[in-house]
Amino acid sequence: MRIFLDTANIDEIRQAAKLGVISGVTTNPSLVAKEKRADMKAVIREISSVVDGPISAEVLSLEPEAMIREAREVSSWSPNVVVKIPMSASGLEAISALSREGIRTNLTLCFSLNQAILGAIAGATYVSAFVGRLDDAGHDGMQIVAEIVNIFDHYKDRIKTQVIAASIRHPLHVVAAAKAGAHIATIPYSVLMQMVKHPLTDIGICRFAEDWQRISKA
Ligand code: E4P
Repeated sequence: MRIFLDTANIDEIRQAAKLGVISGVTTNPSLVAKEKRADMKAVIREISSVVDGPISAEVLSLEPEAMIREAREVSSWSPNVVVKIPMSASGLEAISALSREGIRTNLTLCFSLNQAILGAIAGATYVSAFVGRLDDAGHDGMQIVAEIVNIFDHYKDRIKTQVIAASIRHPLHVVAAAKAGAHIATIPYSVLMQMVKHPLTDIGICRFAEDWQRISKA
């Protein structure tokens, strides 16, 4: 499983990129707005200069023609841009047109197996299943990820769409996504840092240092 960072915060992206464990970045309009930056193009270009991997940038249009126009523009910002398209009939229409043009897409706001199946058939490069938001609504979000992976696997000769476990809230979600066979988990920086930490590691590092100090002063 690969890990993407789910943020538009450039400092977090720079820090995470140094660890060598991040293969891409996902953003959305809310994440960009959180950074109080209105120039989406500048944000995405800056991210692309730090991370050499797929960078998802979302369209805001809702009608198919406008979505397609906007997606073409967004994909021209950098060679590693993947265009995020929200799930809807218009979104599917846009994804199928864009996939015929060779523009990579990420079907976002995917909450059901049916939506994922349609996205894959339309030619989405990725489908993003929103685990945390499904959990919040009383569903088992990770079960949906596992089932999408399983369905796509039945048709692996035809379906090349990769499954992103999105809306990740804590480190256990990441482990569950890996167990479910998700191709990618896109995670907030805070979750990445939680994954790094373990109290026994901290205690172990302290103990090694103390023991060495004792013997080196003897
Ligand atoms: C995915 O690509 C989305 O940006 C993100 O995972 C949504 O997460 P949230 O439910 O925490 O907003």
